[in-house]
Amino acid sequence: MHKPDFKEARTMDKRQYITKKFSLNKKYQNYFQGKTYFLKTYGCQMNEHDSENIEAILKALGFQKEDDYEKADLILLNTCSIRENAHNKAFGMLGRCKHLKEKRPDLMVGLCGCMAQEETVVASILENFSWLNFVVGTHNFNEIPALLVKSLEEGLQVEVYSREKDLVEGMPTERQNPFKAYVNIIYGCDKFCTYCIVPYTRGRQRSRKKEDILEEIQKLLEDGYKEITLLGQNVNAYGKDLYENYSFGELLEDVAQLNVPRIRFVTSHPWDFTDHMIEVIATHQNIMPSIHLPVQSGSNRILKLMGRRYTKESYLELVQKLKAKIPHLALSTDIIVGFPTETEEDFQETMDIVEQCQYDNAFTFIYSIRHGTPAEKIKEQVPLEIKEERLQRLNEKVNFYFLKNNQALVGKTLKVLTEGKSLKQQDAYFGYTETNKLVNFTGENIQLGDFVDVEITEAKTWSLDGQRK
Ligand code: SAH
Ligand code: SF4
Ligand code: F3S
Repeated sequence: MHKPDFKEARTMDKRQYITKKFSLNKKYQNYFQGKTYFLKTYGCQMNEHDSENIEAILKALGFQKEDDYEKADLILLNTCSIRENAHNKAFGMLGRCKHLKEKRPDLMVGLCGCMAQEETVVASILENFSWLNFVVGTHNFNEIPALLVKSLEEGLQVEVYSREKDLVEGMPTERQNPFKAYVNIIYGCDKFCTYCIVPYTRGRQRSRKKEDILEEIQKLLEDGYKEITLLGQNVNAYGKDLYENYSFGELLEDVAQLNVPRIRFVTSHPWDFTDHMIEVIATHQNIMPSIHLPVQSGSNRILKLMGRRYTKESYLELVQKLKAKIPHLALSTDIIVGFPTETEEDFQETMDIVEQCQYDNAFTFIYSIRHGTPAEKIKEQVPLEIKEERLQRLNEKVNFYFLKNNQALVGKTLKVLTEGKSLKQQDAYFGYTETNKLVNFTGENIQLGDFVDVEITEAKTWSLDGQRK
C-alpha cells in the first residue's frame, strides 16, 4: 500500500523523469468481458481528459459503458479536490455506492483523481469505505487494471504516489467529442499559489516532449479533428523543465504550422505570458482569439498573500497588450472572493478590475480552505455570509459584461464549428465561435463538424442565437 503524503509532495526535488510507453498486460485484456462501468468525472479539463484515457483502458479490459450507475458492475469516481463542494459531491456519491454495495455485494467501486492524493481523504476511506476496490492516484491511473484484478482477491488496494512518477506516453484514449480534442502538453504545477491544492495533487511541472505532442496532434488531424485544446495547469510554463530554447510560443507556432483548423489552450498564468507568445497568437489565424487569464483578485495586497506574483497594474498592462495585438479577443478569467483577510476595499479592487477588463466569461468562486496549503494557516477567515454576498455582487457585475459583449455581436457574422443538433428546436444546431461563445442557430444543409458562417440575431448572457448566412 502506498498512501499519499503532502510533506513529500511539497518538496520540490528535481528528479529526472523518463518517458515510458503504456502497455496493457495481455492477461488483463477482456478480463471483464460482459461487465459494465459507470465513470463519473469531477473537476477540470485535466480530469476530463484523464477520464478519456481511463475509459479506453476500461474498454480494453472488456467493460462496456453504462449510463445508469445503479446498473453498472463497476463505479469509478474520478475526483477533484479544488474546493470543499467537490469533496462533498464525491463523498455523497460514495454514500450512494455504499447502499448499492449492500444490495449487490459484487459491485466494484474505485476512486481515482485528485482526492486520492489527499492524506485526509485516504484516511477517511480506510476508516469508512474500506469495502472499496481501489484508490489510485493521479500519477498512476495506468495501474488500474492490475489493482482492480488484485482487489477481487485481496480487497481494497491503495496505490497513491506523492511524487510524480515517470511520464506515460501512448495511453489509449476514448474521446468524448468527435471534433474537439484535448492534448496534454504539461502536467502538474510548480506555482504553489497559497490557496491551491493542485501542486500537491498533480505533482511538479513536467512537460511532454514536443515530438510526442506534435505526433499526437498530427494523428488527430488525420482522424478528422477540427479543434485542438492544449492542456496544462499553466501552459505558458511549457518547456521550462525540458528545453533551453523552446517554450510555449515555439510550441504554439509548431502546432499552428500543422494546419490545425482551430487551436486553443488553457490555462495561461499571467506571470509567464511573454511578448513572443502574444506575437505568435496574433499572427496565426488558426490560433483562436480567446484567452483564459485567471486574475483571482484585483487587490495587490491579496494577490501578494495568494503568491500570484503579479500586481493589478501589471495584469492590466498585459490585458491592454493582448487586446491591442489580438483583434476581437475574448478574455475570460477565474476570480476568488473571500480569501482570508479580504476587506470590502480589497473586494472593490476586484470589482474595479472586472470593470476595466470587461470579461467575456468568468468563473467565480468562494474561497475554500484546502487542508495542507499555506493559506489554511491565515487566521482571519472571512465569514461565509460576507463571502456569499460578495460573490453575488461580483456575479451581477460579470454577467452584465457577458451580456454587453454578446450584444455587441448582434448583426455580425461569425464562424461557428457545428457540434450538434439543438435539443429544443427542430432544424437548429449549436456550436462555438472562434471566441468560444455558444451559438444556437438555424440553417439548411449543415453537417455536424462543418464550419458555417452564422449571422447573430440575438444575444443572451451565456449564449447567442443566429441564422446561417
Ligand atoms: N491553473 C489554473 C487554475 C487551476 S484551478 C490557474 O492557475 O489559473 C481553477 C480555479 O479554481 C483557480 O483559477 C481558482 O480561481 C479556483 N481555486 C483554486 N483553489 C481554490 C480554493 N481553495 N478556493 C476557491 N477557489 C479556488
Ligand atoms: Fe493552482 Fe496556482 Fe498552479 Fe493554478 S498556478 S494550479 S491556481 S498553484
Ligand atoms: Fe480539481 Fe484536480 Fe483539476 S483538484 S480542478 S481535478 S487538477
